[in-house]
Amino acid sequence: MKKTIAFILMSATVCFADDVASGRAKADAACSLCHGVNGIASMPSAPNLAGQQAIYLSEQLKNYRSGKRHHEVMGVIAKPLTDTEIAQLAAWYSSMKVTVEAP
Ligand code: HEC
Repeated sequence: MKKTIAFILMSATVCFADDVASGRAKADAACSLCHGVNGIASMPSAPNLAGQQAIYLSEQLKNYRSGKRHHEVMGVIAKPLTDTEIAQLAAWYSSMKVTVEAP
């Protein structure tokens, strides 16, 4: 029983690592122009995505895709994304560690 649980946990970790790597490749190609290679926006009108919760990122991308959240640019970008690609992109940005310093 313990072995089974350990195996399931290991598989989950491996899958997550795959998602992060695939998400990184997609993000470098399609998102980094505005959201930055490290998830810190390179464009003043685009939000930082580094360290954001995966659930939040997935939800927003699905909302842009469906039109529930309207934005001219993000609507076009999210339209062709599959659920798998969204999960990979969310895994990549949420895996980034962010530290915050109060002024
Ligand atoms: C041409 C610039 C541009 C590109 C390329 C781009 N984005 Fe965006 N993104 C924006 C802007 C601008 C916003 C703010 C939109 C709004 O006000 O709703 C945004 C918003 C978002 C949000 C919502 C963030 C939040 O805090 O609610 C997510 C998630 C996101 N983008 C993910 C992505 C992903 C993933 C890609 C690549 C597949 C991508 N974006 C490519 C410009 C871009």
